[in-house]
Amino acid sequence: MNNQLFYGDNLEVLRKYIADESVDLCYIDPPFNSDENYNQTYSTKGKKDTAQAQAFIDTWTWNLRAADDYKSIVANENGVFTAESVALVVGLNKVLGEESLFAYIVSMTQRIAEIYRVLKPTGSFYLHCDPTASHYLKLICDTLFIPRGGDFKNEIIWHYGQRLMHNKYKFNQKHDTILFYVKSKKVALKNQITEVWTKEDISKVRGRKIQVEEDGREFIWDNRAISKGIPAKKQYIDEIIEKGKAIDDVWDIPFITSTSKERLGYPTQKPEALLERIIKASSNEGDVILDTYCGCGTTIAVAERLKRKWIGIDITYQSISLILKRLEDSFGGDFTKEVIDKETQKVIKPKRLELSGVPKDFASAVALANKKDDRVRKEFEKWAVLSFSNNRAIINDKKGGDGGIDGTAYMVDFDENNKQVFKEVLFSVKTSKTLSPSVIRDLNGTLEREKAELGYLITLYPMPNLVKEATKYGTYQNKMFGRTYPKIEVINIQEMLDGKQMSIPTAEVLKSAERKNGDNSLTMF
Ligand SMILES: C[S@@+](CC[C@H](N)C(=O)[O-])C[C@H]1O[C@@H](n2cnc3c(N)ncnc32)[C@H](O)[C@@H]1O
Repeated sequence: MNNQLFYGDNLEVLRKYIADESVDLCYIDPPFNSDENYNQTYSTKGKKDTAQAQAFIDTWTWNLRAADDYKSIVANENGVFTAESVALVVGLNKVLGEESLFAYIVSMTQRIAEIYRVLKPTGSFYLHCDPTASHYLKLICDTLFIPRGGDFKNEIIWHYGQRLMHNKYKFNQKHDTILFYVKSKKVALKNQITEVWTKEDISKVRGRKIQVEEDGREFIWDNRAISKGIPAKKQYIDEIIEKGKAIDDVWDIPFITSTSKERLGYPTQKPEALLERIIKASSNEGDVILDTYCGCGTTIAVAERLKRKWIGIDITYQSISLILKRLEDSFGGDFTKEVIDKETQKVIKPKRLELSGVPKDFASAVALANKKDDRVRKEFEKWAVLSFSNNRAIINDKKGGDGGIDGTAYMVDFDENNKQVFKEVLFSVKTSKTLSPSVIRDLNGTLEREKAELGYLITLYPMPNLVKEATKYGTYQNKMFGRTYPKIEVINIQEMLDGKQMSIPTAEVLKSAERKNGDNSLTMF
């Protein structure tokens, strides 16, 4: 099996593409019903402020879609629900009413039921959540796993930090909850996870001082069973240290800070150390790891590093773009291309990932442009700008009032004193079948207003009239690279699908992931 990355709604992807009993470990970190929308932070070389674009939506509403989804659970569509889970959801409907929390619960029940289906009988499931809804999510998991022979193993507390501030009303909330289930009771941890013992820790746990033998070997008295008549025995410190310290269900792993090397600017990015512990504990090399809400791809990056196979799903193109870049930065090379030997025409380097759901032909690009989904906004525009700029643009997610600007990139150049500067480049995406030359005039007006140097107009349909109009606006001379670029360029989606990409030297706007291995260097235009 090749690694797989899907751009789409995880329910649809699970139902259509993920086979029964094919996954060894599934970790999910879904929206928590936090009633917040999360923003992606970009580093803007040219400006002092921090640009943000909406990464994903975590507000829930009871609407026709939620009502249909509820009906499909009650009717046990596809047979993926247990009688207990149906009864639970019907009961919660009575308690919670047709409100946003219930819409969230319906959505999670549908997805966890599909995850149960795709887990192998030896599979494990980790659900990352927080106290907002963890009590409801535990009920859902209990009713889906336990009646079919599964088991609840742990409620892991991820204690991610300390806060020095005092809270007048309640204790500071500094933990998330990770619910750990297995599909069959007998499933054991695949690997024992340990931490390093210090001598001070050993002494504290035993409540005794470390002693030294005549030959210099250190030991401690173990008298835990004295009350049962068992005499105290010596335990040697080197042996205790060698075995490692067993870990419990409270995990102290620091949150990614603003200065952390790992940080990519993604709002809810989880630390690799957390995923490393989960993946090592519940899988072996070559096993299949699934993350159906993969965000900026922490699960995927750790699975790749630990030599597991992986399947990732995310509903926003910003995540997909970030993951592709993270893989490229961390492991090198283009994951989606195969290298063919020119002489023999044989594949010498297979692609390391199947990318699905991203438009590959004109019809699927039109379908994305016409997609009406209230949970995701401007997905077509995001895909067009990020793909054309090879993930080097910032998405403008403002509703209206943005002068038709869908993204910004920063071109590198020299100023008159040969000092490096970043010049603004704007992107505008249009999906109409007919467009008049006034669109070009408007874009030029926006460039002047924003003091931007270049503008790209990406059109869904070919627009020869606009291509001609754009030539009237002249060119820009880049001193640093000694090249000339049209001030306004019109590109259509078919050209993009045929491989055309932005060719100006730009600054990175996404923070690069650290290189983990791999031998290919990054391409700079
Ligand atoms: C909390 S973030 C995950 C963060 C991730 N663990 C990381 O470390 O980067 C949740 C992600 O779920 C995605 N998402 C939300 N609803 C989804 C759905 N129905 N299908 C697929 N992805 C979804 C969002 O776009 C977001 O990227």
